Amino acid sequence: VYETHFALNRRPFSKTPDPAFLYTGVVHGEALARLEMAVDEREICLFTGEIGAGKTTVSRALIDRLDVRHRIVLVVNPRLSAVQLLELVADRLGVKPLPRGKVKLLDALTARLFEIFQEGGLPLVIVDEAHLIPSKSVFEELRLLTNIQLDDAPLLSLILIGQPELRTRLGRVGYASFAQRIGVAYHLASLDRPETERYIAHRLQVAGRAVPLFSPAAIDVVYRASRGIPRRINTICQSALLMAYGNEVDVIGQEIVDDVIQDLTTHLGRAFAMEPRSHG
Ligand SMILES: Nc1ncnc2c1ncn2[C@@H]1O[C@H](COP(=O)(O)OP(=O)(O)OP(=O)(O)O)[C@@H](O)[C@H]1O
Ligand SMILES: [Mg+2]
Repeated sequence: VYETHFALNRRPFSKTPDPAFLYTGVVHGEALARLEMAVDEREICLFTGEIGAGKTTVSRALIDRLDVRHRIVLVVNPRLSAVQLLELVADRLGVKPLPRGKVKLLDALTARLFEIFQEGGLPLVIVDEAHLIPSKSVFEELRLLTNIQLDDAPLLSLILIGQPELRTRLGRVGYASFAQRIGVAYHLASLDRPETERYIAHRLQVAGRAVPLFSPAAIDVVYRASRGIPRRINTICQSALLMAYGNEVDVIGQEIVDDVIQDLTTHLGRAFAMEPRSHG
């Protein structure tokens, strides 16, 4: 509807992740570089960030960048038991048929990992939403998986992605054996004010609009209300476009964004309340 009004050729702030809109500024660019390095070094990597900060987006960009030698097992729903997780990894890495029982399963998986190694392959297991892993025993199993080594180099790399509570959980005493194996722990920051502006400009540009659409004061408000979290930025900007279109406004000023945030707070409640937070 509003695309033509704002000289856009598509919706710039849609909620579905679209690689075409990938913004690799300071924050996400560095995260990507760190993950790439961790994979190269075959380190166990812990990648955390606030809800909506862009963890999944970064991990998909990573997958797009890794060369064909990498055999990627992406686990997006880790509400699994230890055995189920082993089965899933074994299955995705081509263990056939899947043996019954944990011992045989581990044997078969180990054999397969050596085989892949000999073919020049690099298995990489990425667990997204890892804060949902139900039990400690799953982490223990993951640790054992990364224990399968050749000349001290693990045959499998592992990236765990999750919300900040994952980090807290792994800091507990019972998780020490796993936590001590983590080689790279990276926390995805939110965007600062200048990066928020560049992020918005980038999305608008990909959607065909080079001329600024939000006034600097409007961006201030977007930044404060979103706390620099991309998903929140998208939600606010998307609603602002709709409201500006409805009001036949051409450049989005502070008032519109204020109204949008009022609306979102009313409808989404606490999930969207303005939480003033000091910088950094
Ligand atoms: N670097 C980026 N470039 C473009 N868009 C981004 C970027 N980071 C985040 N986004 C946008 O923000 C939305 C939320 O990002 P994403 O789903 O990656 O966050 P998340 O950290 O995985 O969130 P959750 O904790 O809910 O899993 C995405 O749909 C995407 O539209
Ligand atoms: Mg995610």
